[in-house]
Amino acid sequence: MVETTCAIIKPHAVQEVGTSGAIIELIERNGFSIEHMKKMKFTEKDAQDFYAIHKERPFFGELVDNMIAGPVIVMALSKENAIQEWRDFMGATNPEKATVGTLRKMFGENISYNATHGSDAVDTARRELKQLFNV
Ligand code: RTP
Ligand code: MG
Repeated sequence: MVETTCAIIKPHAVQEVGTSGAIIELIERNGFSIEHMKKMKFTEKDAQDFYAIHKERPFFGELVDNMIAGPVIVMALSKENAIQEWRDFMGATNPEKATVGTLRKMFGENISYNATHGSDAVDTARRELKQLFNV
């Protein structure tokens, strides 16, 4: 089934010259269709709402700080099984454990600076796309 997922290039990756361009090229080459894309900056409340599921976790404060450290590039990506396909293409949350050829292996530094975000389920994708694009 064709799905739409929410992808984000995180601030540290946007800051690095050439990285967001390289990621966008790979997105296109791997068969994802970019339905919506914009560069924006999360407010603290935006980031807290976006990652609300993690609010009790010890890393929540650091996660929010990292997501508001600079602009992000947010996208709605469509493909057959887009949610799982995008997560597979990103690789493991911890870039040190990510498979060669995945985005997090190529562009992530560590678990806190892991280059990209991807929705983890259909209802999450729906909520995230509503928040970011009102679609
Ligand atoms: P994301 O939501 O950003 O796509 O990442 P994910 O599903 O692979 O991982 P998740 O468990 O949802 O965690 C969200 C983000 O929080 C940071 N994190 N830090 N220090 C830590 O132990 C830790 N664990 C998670 C990561 O940046 C992760 O992407
Ligand atoms: Mg997640």
